[in-house]
Amino acid sequence: MQSYNNSLVSFAEKQLIFNTFAKSKEKYMNILLLGSGGREHAMAWKMEQSPLCTNLYIAPGNAGTEACGQNISMNINDFEGIKTFCLSKSIDMLVVGPEEPLVRGIYDFVKQDTDIAHIIVVGPSLEGAKLEGSKAYSKILMQEMNIPTAAYREFNIESIEDGLAYIAQHTMPIVLKADGLAAGKGVLILDNVEEAQAEFRAMLSGKFGAASHTIVIEQFLKGIEFSIFVLTDGHDYKILPVAKDYKRIGEGDTGLNTGGMGAVSPVPFVDDVMMQKVENRIIKPTIEGLKQRKITYKGFIFFGLISVEGEPYTIEYNCRMGDPETEVVIPRLQNDLVALFATLDNGTLAQQLIVEDPRTATTVFLVAGGYPGDYEKGKIMTGFELTQNSLLFHAGTKRIDNQLVTNGGRILAITSLADNIRDALSISNQNSAIIEYEGKNFRKDIGLDLL
Ligand code: AMP
Ligand code: GLY
Repeated sequence: MQSYNNSLVSFAEKQLIFNTFAKSKEKYMNILLLGSGGREHAMAWKMEQSPLCTNLYIAPGNAGTEACGQNISMNINDFEGIKTFCLSKSIDMLVVGPEEPLVRGIYDFVKQDTDIAHIIVVGPSLEGAKLEGSKAYSKILMQEMNIPTAAYREFNIESIEDGLAYIAQHTMPIVLKADGLAAGKGVLILDNVEEAQAEFRAMLSGKFGAASHTIVIEQFLKGIEFSIFVLTDGHDYKILPVAKDYKRIGEGDTGLNTGGMGAVSPVPFVDDVMMQKVENRIIKPTIEGLKQRKITYKGFIFFGLISVEGEPYTIEYNCRMGDPETEVVIPRLQNDLVALFATLDNGTLAQQLIVEDPRTATTVFLVAGGYPGDYEKGKIMTGFELTQNSLLFHAGTKRIDNQLVTNGGRILAITSLADNIRDALSISNQNSAIIEYEGKNFRKDIGLDLL
């Protein structure tokens, strides 16, 4: 197996891509990528390999993205600051990693300002980002388009008595969802009526601030989850490699929920039959729903899906890529990512062919001691130079005086490619054992349940 400490794309391949795009008169790009997680490191790593990428800036980035471009200290929700930066560096493409700037309307901000409207923005408009920004909005779209999803109702403070009665007659478990963004904590699954009613009241009283002024109450679906990613220009779409993430802190899927402890791609049970169902019942009607509403959407749609006895249901939409799924999806994507992004703007997405590496990718996340509860930052990290055959995507890391230190709960995603899940995991686990810092924790069983 080749070493991935070097670029996966050979010089010859780069030349080929270069020639193809030189012929099609694609221009070189100055690119600004917003975000600081493992997802953004994986995207930066991939974009930097593109012959179309002239300068790559990552705001704010992390200790890993420094190797792919220039980190810029900037608040990703400061749109005026982003505009000033874009003008000063002649930015041609803005790639938005996390959901918050999208839900706050960065697409519309750029497109409504004649000084910067020419910039290609990878991400949906304000209206499109509601797929993630409002659970109630996304459920209405699913219902109108007949997309399989859990049965639900929507409540607010005016309908509190109806909500309490709805919970009382509902079978348990029951799922309560804050309508708006709640830092990944706005979904509660409850096993008894009294507890569910108490949480319902707490949410309406502002447990998640304005995000829970509206609540979606829905049926609990029992099955196995997976993630499908689509790149769309609002008319056409391309399906990217399928992935599955592991959210619980403990092995055997036990303990508290986290931002994600690891992921695999592809996912053995998501075979051609399942993909056909997903495409026909979920992806196509979602894109059709966007079209009918005349929503501008040039970016990713992340379908959070669950297979219930072999039938796919939609749990949620996100308006961005997943993390840690990106750390296995991007290494399997053989296309030029910058060229793909450019097609969102020039109407040629439909002509693109997505090429997937046939191998399996796994990623294992090293996390801080105590995470997802309280944890300390600033722990010195060592061993990077001893790892072999894995891609190291940084998340919560920073560099102080040439020393890598931890800077978050999820610290480093270790991705490996091999012929099967077991072999890929074994490489990631070996390298996970090599990296050292105080309090290190990781799961050694990522993907093994799928065998
Ligand atoms: P979210 O914060 O929207 O990503 O949801 C968090 C997690 O809650 C999902 O990944 C699922 O594991 C779970 N979940 C959400 N809705 C349902 C549902 N209707 N049935 C079962 N699990 C659910
Ligand atoms: N991996 C789940 C997410 O990014 O929301």
